[in-house]
Amino acid sequence: MYLLKKLEKKLYVTRDIWKEEYYECVKDIVNHPVVLRMKLYPHHGTTNCYQHCMHVSFYTYQLCRLFHLNARSAARGSMLHDLFLYDWHTHYERTGQHFHGLTHPKVAYENANKFFKLDSIEKDIILNHMWPITPFSIPKTREGWVITLTDKYCGACETSQRRKKMISVPVRRG
Ligand SMILES: [Fe+2]
Ligand SMILES: [Fe+2]
Repeated sequence: MYLLKKLEKKLYVTRDIWKEEYYECVKDIVNHPVVLRMKLYPHHGTTNCYQHCMHVSFYTYQLCRLFHLNARSAARGSMLHDLFLYDWHTHYERTGQHFHGLTHPKVAYENANKFFKLDSIEKDIILNHMWPITPFSIPKTREGWVITLTDKYCGACETSQRRKKMISVPVRRG
């Protein structure tokens, strides 16, 4: 029992340290005015697009750190993975365009590429995160595979609202 308590405490301490280090990786992105616009668009359940990207980004960051992958690029790419900047619920009525699920990775990539210098992992994460819904856009990096899982996990949790407050990432200004 004592060992379990000790382990639990160590995990909480590690998570708090990782939160701080995570923030250092993404602070320019999470405070960028274009990225902040994602708060305007509902995504899954009561979660907006910005919150969803942050959930996915932080989970992806933690898993990549655990497996000694490139956690920084994973966090940054994941924060931008759904930067399509419209409400997908009303997208068809407004534009007549079907297939948001298939097309939004490219839109998000084009938006992200305008405002940030993306490396190959970040590009892979954004373009291929919808696999297997996009069967021909297969992740080419290990970080890209991680986000295909975290994106679906977070989406499912947000849609079902099983967990009201999934994570609390300290988003500071400046
Ligand atoms: Fe997506
Ligand atoms: Fe997503």
